[in-house]
Amino acid sequence: MDIINKIQGYREEQEELRWEGTFADYLEILRERPEVAQTAHSRIYNMIKDAGVVEEGDRKRYLFFEDQIFGLEESVERLVEEYFHSAAKRLDVKKRILLLMGPVSGGKSTIVTMLKRGLEKYSRTDQGAVYAIKGCPMHEDPLHLIPQHMRKDFYNEFGIRVEGNLSPLNLMRLEKEYGGRIEDVMVERIFLSEDRRVGVGTFSPSDPKSQDIADLTGSIDFSTIAEYGSESDPRAYRFDGELNKANRGLMEFQEMLKCDEKFLWHLLSLTQEGNFKAGRFALISADEMIVAHTNEAEYKSFISNKKNEALHSRIIVMPIPYNLKISEEERIYKKMIEESDISHVHIAPHALKIAATFTVLTRIKESQKNDVDVLKKLKLYDGQNVEGFNNQDVVELKNEFADEGMGGIDPRYVINRISSAIIRKELTSINALDVLRSIKDGLDQHASISNEDRERYLNYISISRKEYDEMAKKEVQKAFVYSYEESAKTLMDNYLDNVEAYCNKNKLRDPLTGEEMNPDEKLMRSIEEQIGISENAKKAFREEILIRISAYARKGKKFDYQSHDRLREAIQKKLFADLKDVVKITTSTKTPDEGQLKKINEVIARLIDEHGYNSTSANDLLRYVGSLLNR
Ligand SMILES: Nc1ncnc2c1ncn2[C@@H]1O[C@H](COP(=O)(O)OP(=O)(O)O)[C@@H](O)[C@H]1O
Ligand SMILES: [Mg+2]
Repeated sequence: MDIINKIQGYREEQEELRWEGTFADYLEILRERPEVAQTAHSRIYNMIKDAGVVEEGDRKRYLFFEDQIFGLEESVERLVEEYFHSAAKRLDVKKRILLLMGPVSGGKSTIVTMLKRGLEKYSRTDQGAVYAIKGCPMHEDPLHLIPQHMRKDFYNEFGIRVEGNLSPLNLMRLEKEYGGRIEDVMVERIFLSEDRRVGVGTFSPSDPKSQDIADLTGSIDFSTIAEYGSESDPRAYRFDGELNKANRGLMEFQEMLKCDEKFLWHLLSLTQEGNFKAGRFALISADEMIVAHTNEAEYKSFISNKKNEALHSRIIVMPIPYNLKISEEERIYKKMIEESDISHVHIAPHALKIAATFTVLTRIKESQKNDVDVLKKLKLYDGQNVEGFNNQDVVELKNEFADEGMGGIDPRYVINRISSAIIRKELTSINALDVLRSIKDGLDQHASISNEDRERYLNYISISRKEYDEMAKKEVQKAFVYSYEESAKTLMDNYLDNVEAYCNKNKLRDPLTGEEMNPDEKLMRSIEEQIGISENAKKAFREEILIRISAYARKGKKFDYQSHDRLREAIQKKLFADLKDVVKITTSTKTPDEGQLKKINEVIARLIDEHGYNSTSANDLLRYVGSLLNR
């Protein structure tokens, strides 16, 4: 049994990783690998960096986030550089709370969860190893044992700066258990784990009246006061608040801005001084990153409240907007569907892409630039080629609005609508039209959408629907051509031979008879007319193509029918125009004859084998395209 082997393997590995020794032994480790003593912030940054960084021009892509966070490269880069990286360098940033701000279901919790799970794994690697005073409920940093007045010497010898004071509990243990002999204090390697409450914690506020600050900073254990004689004996205190337990790692503070003030004050001291107050003790030093998340409205109301001013400056806000790329949105849906209970349902090609088209439309703002309609903007954002635009235009579009992506439809809504359509109708196969319909029906039930937005969204649904119509027609037409690529290539080669002869005022030779012929004007025009090139413009168009071909040749690149956007479109349209009647008649006839039936079966087989349909969705598609062509 594989799984049993794995479980055993894990246990053995765990045994191997285990380490304990005296403080003196620990110093030997530090002498060889001083990075072991890094702060929590630095460890988190290194974890992200060690997962890999890809530099693309002046941009950096952090692979750590790549298998779960899609389309947020720019926000992630900013987050890593401006927070994690600076915090790792012990800058003031480290002392601030990281607040991820963005719209609902935009990936904030996912980012935090990845950091937590990442840390758990990372602490099991050599680079991410963490050591702590053995038996300490807060897994305190062993270096706190070094008295303040010796820290300079320690720095000179080891090159490591020590921050933070020994906690009251360990101070007492040092005296009582070790007779003050620091070098004998036992140290162990720890493995961060949220389940075991080691170095990873979550605090979520409940009812402020009943919630106790103890949840955050621990509490007195009244049952042991008698034993230790006093409330201020640290042994009578349970250091089991989230802040205690998350020491050396990360604490997620959920709904921080909704939290009662008294909780926030603890954070203030923690972020200013790196310590917090628990019970009647001296301050407790903490080495942990605090991450919170919120939405824009909540954040605005928080900063507008004067009472929060002090805390305000202790927070670093990082925007996490919605993804604005259709193809990445599609990946988000695929991931969410895989994780859901509808993963067995067949989703027809284009269904998710069309849903994503709608969703991203609701998130972007319409450009003021003349020639950029919303669909063009969407394609440019998605990295697609749009005739007449270049990268600089994309940058300008992005700079046109500062806070794009902070509103609109969230991915969870789309997934819910897809599931609800599937469950309600007991579907085993769902297509783009089903999805759009379900999204539309849901808009009425969506509580937080204003009437104005609803109007706008309905318009986006119809734009998306038109996009789908085009895709559907293309797909069927392609499937009708025996070999689409080959036909396109033949037609283009033929066109180019003629264009060349035309521009150079040459004759062509008939390949069969060897006869000389004039360039075939009729053929060239029948292609050019597909994209609206007039009689007057044809010469310029043909010459431009020849120039493009020779530019390709100079660079040693092969010019094919994909190399020129407009030519490709013309060729495609020409092929489809020739087919149109066949497609139209074949797909819409109620009583196909033998030949038509054969063709339909062929097309369906091709849709299934080559384009990812199943028989239901392929038949749906044919019927739909038939009705479109007959309009
Ligand atoms: N940019 C994104 N990349 C990958 N998944 C995303 C993205 N945005 C949202 N999701 C998915 O949407 C769902 C909700 O995200 P979540 O992290 O809970 O959002 P938030 O905490 O911002 O409300 C999750 O399943 C998440 O994986
Ligand atoms: Mg969340």
